[in-house]
Formats: sequence, C-alpha cells, structure tokens
Amino acid sequence: MTKFVGVLTAGGDTPGLNAALRGFGKAAIEEYGMEVIGFYEGYRGLMQNRTVRLDGSNLSGILTRGGTILGTSRDKPNNMPMGGQFLDMTDTMVENYERHHLDVLVCIGGGGTHKSAAKLMKKGINVVTIPKTIDNDLCGTDHSIGFDTALGIATDAVDRLHSTAHSHHRIIVVEIMGHNTGWLALGSGIAGGADVILIPEIPYETQSVAEAILQRSRGGKRFSIVAVSEGAMSVENSLVFKQALADLEEAKKGPDRETAQARVQEIQQAHTANTINLAAELEKLTGLESRVTILGYVQRGGTPSAYDRLLATRLGTAAANFIADGLCGVMVAARGEGIEPVKLEKIVGKRNVVPVDHPWVVSARNVGTNLGD
Ligand code: F6P
Repeated sequence: MTKFVGVLTAGGDTPGLNAALRGFGKAAIEEYGMEVIGFYEGYRGLMQNRTVRLDGSNLSGILTRGGTILGTSRDKPNNMPMGGQFLDMTDTMVENYERHHLDVLVCIGGGGTHKSAAKLMKKGINVVTIPKTIDNDLCGTDHSIGFDTALGIATDAVDRLHSTAHSHHRIIVVEIMGHNTGWLALGSGIAGGADVILIPEIPYETQSVAEAILQRSRGGKRFSIVAVSEGAMSVENSLVFKQALADLEEAKKGPDRETAQARVQEIQQAHTANTINLAAELEKLTGLESRVTILGYVQRGGTPSAYDRLLATRLGTAAANFIADGLCGVMVAARGEGIEPVKLEKIVGKRNVVPVDHPWVVSARNVGTNLGD
C-alpha cells in the first residue's frame, strides 16, 4: 500500500538540508513508491497547510545547493506567533496532517525541532527526525548535517586571519557560532591553529588569556588569534548566569517567573557584546592593538562539504528505509559507519556539550593552546 509522507525543515538553515531532502525524497519515491509532500517554512507551513509535492523535478539539481528549498522557521507548534500573540497551534497541525492522509511526518532539524516533533508525536502524529545543526549539540547521533561544512568555513577564516594579524602585530578575536556549546570554536580553533580558544564549557579568566598573549609576545610572536565561541563566558559572568538560570528554574511556576525570565534575557542581551568587550579588555591588559571579527551567518551559508552531502544522503535514504519498515518516533542517527534509530524520548531536552576532558580539549592543551582557565 502506498505510504503518504510529509517532510519539513525547521530551525536555523544549514548546508546539506537539500541533500537530505533529495536523499529522502528519491529513496521514498523511487525505491518505495511513496507519495511525498513538503511543508514550507518548518512547522509554520504545517500549520498553514502550505505544501509542495516533491518529485523528480524539484528533487533534482539540489544536492550541492545551500539553504533549503522548503524554507525554514524557528516557530514552535505550541508557541506560534499569531497576530501579536503566541498560540498553541498543535491541533491545527494534526488536522492538516490528517487532511493529507499522511502516514508519517519527517522533521529535519536541531534540538528545538526534535522537541517540537516529540510534542506532535504525543498528539498522535507519526514522526521520524533527521539531525542537522552546525552546533553539533544534538545527543544520540555521532554527527549532524551541517557541522562539517561550518567547521570548514570557520577553519578557513581562522587560517586567513593569521596573515593579517601577523602583518599588523595584532590580536584578532574571532567569534564563532555554536550557541551554548563550543564544538565549532574548539574544532576550528584547533584546525586553524588559534592561540587561544574560549568555549562555554570552560569559563575563562581574561587575565589568563592576556598572560598567554604576552608570553607569546615575549617569545617574539607579536600577534595572536583568539577563537571565542559565541556562548563563552568569563568565570564571573558564568556564575551570574548560572545563578539566574537556577532562579528561573525555581521560580518557574510561581509569581516571580516573569522577573526571573527577564533577568536571564537581560544577561543574554548583554552577552551579545562579549567578544567586543573581550577584545577591548585584552588590548588594555596587553598593550597590543586588537581587532574583532564576527563570522556570523557566513558559517551556515553556501555549498555543503562532501562529508555533509554524504551524511545527508545516508541519513535521508535511511529515513525512507525506516518508514518503509514501519518505524516511527525515532531520530535517524549516525553511529560509526552505520545508521541506527534512536527513540525521540531518549534525546529530547538533552544537549551534547563538550566534555572538559574530551580528546579535542586534551589535544588543544597538548599543543600549548590557552583555553582561558
Ligand atoms: O543553531 C544554529 C545557529 O546558527 C547557532 O550557532 C546560533 O547561535 C543561532 O543559530 C543563530 O540563530 P538565528 O538564526 O535565529 O539568528
């Protein structure tokens, strides 16, 4: 019997999403004779019933294309912005799922997308998810689509900053994405040979960073590259933030919830200037001229790497295989050279952070990189 499947891409875009859509769609249609429709702009399109039939014509020629042909959004089923307010639109999504007589919904995304998929599952929708994130912060899978490409782009940037920092005898502080995890900054910092790498998992002392830079300077190296993850914090700020999060947790259902929430947001807002402030402090402490480079969205734009195309094709085709076998409620996870299903309830709400004794951390220390502690 023909299976009817919907697919959407949600959360921040990453290179490799189109390769995943192509891999899944081609296998589903050509191998198993399934009917596939795509929903535009993540869960928003599911709510608005905005669809496109996927077939050989729109699945061809997209393997190497960045972004997603379906578009994406960060909208959540239970908290959808609607005319100035946030509403729970889960039931409307269930209705649209049923309107198309869907057997399964494939959700391609990161942590937020997985959380939303699990919510829809509780309402009776059969979901299969495919992991993508440049942050590498999803649990339960060895690899997620997009990380490798972003790692390559950030590494190239760290490489290129060397010659300009060297020529001008400057400190260059480069901010790298990663949300609240340091995989991208750590990986590109090591691969690009950054002199200092600061990640959220290891709060830093600005004085320690300044001392490392001065030591290089005394040894004749009059430039330094500081790779800082967007979520990295000084020891002091990290304590303040942790306390604010703990206060919020405690206040969650009580009358102080809004105040505690506002405090967390205030800290997050102030943190957006962290890299700029850090560069200024380092200039003051070392007497060396310093500059800031924020890599930003460049890290998630453009063509996916060969590795991400391969990973996306493996995960996409495996999703079709799982659906053909009647599996649902699972993430299609990369495990070693293979693929395995991982139950959504095992991973939802968890985050893959950098262990402070991870081999990458050890290697960075072994080559003399300062990690700010
Ligand atoms: O999760 C991917 C990511 O690029 C993070 O690295 C970054 O913190 C965030 O998305 C940016 O979010 P937005 O696309 O909503 O600006």
